[in-house]
Amino acid sequence: AQTEKDLLYKIHEVANNYFQEILWNDEDGRSIGLSYFKERELKDDIIKKFQLGYSPEKKNAFTAYALEKGYSKEILEKSGLSIFPENAPAGVDRFRERVIFPIHSFSGRVLGFGARILKSNVKTAKYLNSPETEIYHKSNVLYGLNQSKQAISRKNACLLVEGYMDVISLHMSGIENVVASSGTSLTTEQIKLIKRLTENVTILFDGDNAGIKASFRSIDMLLTEGMNIRVLLFPDGDDPDSFARKHPQEYVEKYIENEAMDFIDFKAEILLRDVENDPIKKAEAIRDIVKSVSFVQNALKREVYLKEVSNKFGLSEQSLFNELDVQKQITQ
Ligand code: UTP
Ligand code: MN
Ligand code: MN
Ligand code: MN
Ligand code: MN
Repeated sequence: AQTEKDLLYKIHEVANNYFQEILWNDEDGRSIGLSYFKERELKDDIIKKFQLGYSPEKKNAFTAYALEKGYSKEILEKSGLSIFPENAPAGVDRFRERVIFPIHSFSGRVLGFGARILKSNVKTAKYLNSPETEIYHKSNVLYGLNQSKQAISRKNACLLVEGYMDVISLHMSGIENVVASSGTSLTTEQIKLIKRLTENVTILFDGDNAGIKASFRSIDMLLTEGMNIRVLLFPDGDDPDSFARKHPQEYVEKYIENEAMDFIDFKAEILLRDVENDPIKKAEAIRDIVKSVSFVQNALKREVYLKEVSNKFGLSEQSLFNELDVQKQITQ
């Protein structure tokens, strides 16, 4: 028998085909949606590879299409694709006048969508995403994993970026071992998905304050799961998408290779930026770094990292070990 989950998968497949059909074959789809992707310099083959689409302006375009195909209001509502308010019994599409990014499972089934507005509009969120449903749990999904899993295994390394466009632009430039946390803070479940393929992660977040905060949180999560990490922030104003479109593949690859730091150097650089020679602030920064070290599960690795901190700051290993013990009591 067809379960509700089966139906949810099916309706997402139908919607995914619908949004792509509109993007490529509908007049507005082409002149608005496809033009948008062209302005962002995406080539046809990459638009197809990521199954990008467009949702029309009409209030219930997709809902009417799906009802016509025999899907019930109930399943449409449960999928998060439609709502049926009392004053609009014909239904209202969740996604309207937006370019569409389908979100796939590890094995390639469509679980939900991200959708971007075309103009920078102060009133609405830039990206609207599917709500949590029976098939879409955002904390268990990494955007791009389906398209990137082979390259991640082959290179035994995974690049972690913030956004949909970062994944897509890197793929377009030939760098295919990349996934996005999609603006949420990285979860243990997401890390476990990466760990099936590799233990080596390079964090490539935006160089703004939000990116720095997110990278600090992600570092501790990744260390807790036993991952090896390197971190790189792009120059302020750039993200992997804009950077990958400005420079050729080899340059981007070399840049990542040369500029990515281990987490100790990275945190030290950020935390000591405005510290000058203030000893109290310097001590705060060192405690913050030792706190990250305390998340490392392997005792030998922990000691190696502490030695690095000791050398870097000219502090005795003993005092750092003492601090580590204090931090471990706090974090455990
Ligand atoms: P960014 O604001 O860095 O967007 O958010 P971006 O990916 O660089 O977007 P472009 O280049 O302007 O198109 C990073 C990610 O955070 C999530 C999205 O997954 C986005 O790709 N996000 C962001 C949301 O879910 N909602 C938002 O309103 C903004
Ligand atoms: Mn479930
Ligand atoms: Mn950002
Ligand atoms: Mn960004
Ligand atoms: Mn961007």
